[in-house]
Amino acid sequence: MKTRLEERLYREYMTFFEKAERERRWNVFTDIPWDKVNKDASEDLALCAETFCSVEMYLPDYVAGGINVVRRYFGQAWFQANWAYEESKHSLALTQWLIKSGRRSEEQMFDLQNSILERKWELPFSTARQMTFYGCVQEMATFIIYLKHRDRAAKEGDEALRQVYEYVAKDEIAHCRFYENVIKVLLEEDREGTLRDMAHVFANFKMPGVDLVPDYDSRILKMREAGIDRQVFIQKVYFPILKYLDVSRHEILKAQGAAIHARQAVDDAKALSGSSSAEE
Ligand SMILES: [Fe+2]
Ligand SMILES: [Fe+2]
Repeated sequence: MKTRLEERLYREYMTFFEKAERERRWNVFTDIPWDKVNKDASEDLALCAETFCSVEMYLPDYVAGGINVVRRYFGQAWFQANWAYEESKHSLALTQWLIKSGRRSEEQMFDLQNSILERKWELPFSTARQMTFYGCVQEMATFIIYLKHRDRAAKEGDEALRQVYEYVAKDEIAHCRFYENVIKVLLEEDREGTLRDMAHVFANFKMPGVDLVPDYDSRILKMREAGIDRQVFIQKVYFPILKYLDVSRHEILKAQGAAIHARQAVDDAKALSGSSSAEE
C-alpha cells in the first residue's frame, strides 16, 4: 500500500516530468548553433567550460549515489533517472563546444574523462532528506553560475556557448524547483526534523568537484570573477530557497542553534565515555 508521502512525491514527479517533456527538451546536435562558435574567444572562457564539464563528468557517481539513497520512493527514484539523462547532456554539450571551438582535441577530452574518473565522488550526506536539500542548494548555485557564464559567452560573441549555457541553466533551475517542491512536502510531514536537516546541510555544504577536479584551486582563481563567493551564495542561492520554502531566517537560525546544541551533546557524551573508559 502506498503511504501519503509516497503518493505526494509521485505527484510531484509527474508534474515535473510532464512539464519537462512539454517545455524543456533540447537536442545537443540540432539545437545549438554550432556554426556560431567564436574561435577567438578567450582562453578563460574555455577553461571555465572545461571546469564545469569536469564537474558534470562525475555523473556515474552522482547517479549511483543519488538513486540508491531514494530507491524506495518511486517519485524521487524516477526523478533521478530523468535527471541523469538531462545531466548527461550537460557534459556532452560542453565537451562538444570545447572540441568544435578548437580549444581541446578529442584525445584531450578522453584523457580528461579518464583522469576525472580516477577519483570517486562520495555522497556528502547519508539520508534521502539531507540529499534532497543538498541537491536543491547545489542546483540553484549551479543555475546562478551558468547564467553568469551565459552572459559572459554572449559578451565574447560566442552564440553557441551562450545557447549551451542557456539550456543547461534552464535544466538546473527545473531540478532545483523539483527538490524545493519535495522539501515543501517534507516540511509539511515533519517540519522540525526537516529544518534540522536543512541547517545541517547548509552548515556543511560544499560544491561537488571541490575535492575532486584536478587543479580545482587554480581553476577557481581564474573563475572567481565569473563564479560566486559566499556573500552571493547566501543572497542569491540560500535566501531565495528559504523564501520559496516559506521558511523564515529566524526559524532556520533556531534550527541551526538546535543542530549545534545536539552535536555538542553528542561530543560531550563521547568525551565523557572516553574519559570514563580511560579511568577504568
Ligand atoms: Fe548539470
Ligand atoms: Fe542539475
